[in-house]
Amino acid sequence: MVQLLKLFEAADLWGICLLAAAIYFVSLILYRLYVHPLSDVPGPKLAAITSWYETYYDLFKTPGGQYWNKLDELHNTYGPIIRINPNEVQIHDPEFYTQIYAGGPNKRNRYARSVSGNGSPGSMASAVSHDLHRLRRSSLNPFFSKAAVLRLEERIQSRVRILCERFSGFLERKEIVDVSVAMTSLTLDIITEYSFGESWNLMDRDDLSYDFIKVMRGGFETLQIRKLFNSVINLIPPKALDRLPKEETETQRLADEALVLITAGSETTSRALATIIYHVLENPDICTKLQQELDIAIPDATMEVSYSTLEALPYLTATIRESLRISALVPNRSLLTADQPLQYKQWSLNPGAYPSA
Ligand code: HEM
Repeated sequence: MVQLLKLFEAADLWGICLLAAAIYFVSLILYRLYVHPLSDVPGPKLAAITSWYETYYDLFKTPGGQYWNKLDELHNTYGPIIRINPNEVQIHDPEFYTQIYAGGPNKRNRYARSVSGNGSPGSMASAVSHDLHRLRRSSLNPFFSKAAVLRLEERIQSRVRILCERFSGFLERKEIVDVSVAMTSLTLDIITEYSFGESWNLMDRDDLSYDFIKVMRGGFETLQIRKLFNSVINLIPPKALDRLPKEETETQRLADEALVLITAGSETTSRALATIIYHVLENPDICTKLQQELDIAIPDATMEVSYSTLEALPYLTATIRESLRISALVPNRSLLTADQPLQYKQWSLNPGAYPSA
């Protein structure tokens, strides 16, 4: 009998929990649809209610990563401004671009949810507030000025020579080489040498370190999933760091920064290079024109050629720019919010709203 009573009590408890959850979700839905500051922004109701709408297109609809395609469709239906998930709006209007991504004295903060997935919370790329981002960025700025990058020229040239030797070897043995892997191997060898003073020398390995690069790319593919469950992952206390003195946790911040440098400095440039190689080889006209320009600028293939010489070649420059344009290297939305409301036509976007363009 006592056991039966306990069973009823447990059932009641479950009932109360279910009822509370139902009230919470219904209130949340009503709030997001009718009270939320973005409730008057056009867009699909489902997207306004839940970010699972976006998740469906990015994770479940084959071949995945399709929300940006869907957004084009939504702009055609709803106009230049749409609410694309509960807290985000997207504005398809070049005139408004510089208002969102405003420089100078205008302060812009990032959206924590959007930067949470990159796995490097201590890095500048994950800094949410404008001031923190500025502080972190200021320590690295001098290393990425044009003058600083030009000083790298000789080191970059020597890495390119290693790659050319590797290509000659593949050619002699009539082995197929995956150009995208070769380019990532090259860019990782360069950026690790620049960041850590010691290159990973991935190009030295027989397969150009294909397995390692495959694992690294797998990490990028989980980005959407990590973004989704980051709040759960953050509940797990960082035990290892808890036991360390405060100054030691700084190491973690530097490690986060290093991770960003490696990932941002390799796959982006490598993808741009692989895109150039693919399209130049696929289009004989482009290939011939480029070859003619390079033959004149570099009559002897064994000679060293400087960046300033290459920079002055119009067809090569156009080829690089076109690759940057078409290769969608960083396809995520860059969500920023201003300290003051941003006005787009009749819509006032408060600091709690995250617009992207
Ligand atoms: C074709 C090559 C590249 C493209 C198209 C590219 C593109 C971008 C874009 C669009 C962002 C902004 C991301 C955001 O805020 O959502 C970014 C950030 C960043 N990129 Fe690149 N990138 C390239 C190469 C590189 C290289 C070679 C490095 C060298 C390490 C690098 C380091 C970084 C860093 C550190 C950030 C974060 C900056 C910050 O938060 O202020 N990128 N990149």
